[in-house]
Amino acid sequence: MKIVPLGQNKIPVPAIIQGTMRFDKLSTKEVAAILEKDLELGTNFIDTANCYGKPEGLVESILGKTFEENPGLRDKLALQSKGGITFFDDGRPYHNYSKEHLMKTLDASLSRLKTDHLDYFLLHRSDALFRPEEVAEAFELMKQQGKVLHFGVSNEVPYGIELLQKYCTVPIEINQMQFSIAHADMCVQPIATNNHDFYAVDRDGGVLNYCRLKDITIQAWSPFQYGFIEGLFLDNPKFPEMNKGIQDIADKYGVSKTTIAVAWILRHPANMQVVCGTTNHQRIADCCKACDIELTYEDWYHIYLCAGYPIM
Ligand SMILES: NC(=O)c1ccc[n+]([C@@H]2O[C@H](COP(=O)([O-])OP(=O)(O)OC[C@H]3O[C@@H](n4cnc5c(N)ncnc54)[C@H](OP(=O)(O)O)[C@@H]3O)[C@@H](O)[C@H]2O)c1
Repeated sequence: MKIVPLGQNKIPVPAIIQGTMRFDKLSTKEVAAILEKDLELGTNFIDTANCYGKPEGLVESILGKTFEENPGLRDKLALQSKGGITFFDDGRPYHNYSKEHLMKTLDASLSRLKTDHLDYFLLHRSDALFRPEEVAEAFELMKQQGKVLHFGVSNEVPYGIELLQKYCTVPIEINQMQFSIAHADMCVQPIATNNHDFYAVDRDGGVLNYCRLKDITIQAWSPFQYGFIEGLFLDNPKFPEMNKGIQDIADKYGVSKTTIAVAWILRHPANMQVVCGTTNHQRIADCCKACDIELTYEDWYHIYLCAGYPIM
């Protein structure tokens, strides 16, 4: 397992994170087997959120039950959850970063997860009405009460982080962003800037270089999805060239395309973690195998070009 330095304090953490968004239909036995497989492969980092599964909290509840049935398991894990997305009674989602709501969300997550603390707590998606002073108070209280050890954000732009950090005494150590071969805007835009109209549009405020500058670890979510979690790009007839490029490099190293899709992200020098959502033991192993491969410049840019991104 590749170990990467997380945040400003450079905490050593595994590069592969087990995502749990798709655990909603699994039994506690199946979840325990996945977590044991993760540990066997060298990763103990688990990502979840209050909003995974329906009704709200379903996946956290399944995880909590799994911990209850397997004493000692939770203590082996670095447990991360997210809050800030909530729901009307009719199921429509909205965002709420008020202090009261965040404190309530955290307590509900801890209760469902049957644990007294989270190792990492992230704000899930920007709230238009957020007051950074309030979030700062919530984070400081969570920390003082020993309920959260480390903090971060997700899908957040640089000025949102700056605004929060202006008031927050605890460091923002993580920004979880969608990033994959098929969803690579944050690294394509700086390459295309000033040259290629479409790809040169700055949609995220330069978040990739900002996070590198501030030692904020990027956690790449949905490493196998295109669009906004629209579907798998691997073996998808919509992306023949991209798949050919990935297959070329997979053949070179004698590994699966799954491994190469993760290796492509890990090769970026930002030292990202990759949040893999597979529940299949073989594919989890294929994701972890990416840690043993360091793509060359030529491998990386071959895939980049096959994915259709412009260079000149
Ligand atoms: N911060 C955010 O806003 C945000 C948003 C979305 C997700 N996330 C986090 O990111 C994690 C990963 O997201 P995701 O599940 O959408 O991402 P993913 O890892 O890109 O996709 C996993 C899905 O693809 C399927 N799959 C089929 N063939 C595959 C292959 N060859 N290799 C890998 N997967 C294959 C998996 O099925 P099998 O299980 O059958 O392998 C699974 O359903 C989530 O669990 C969550 O923790 C965060």
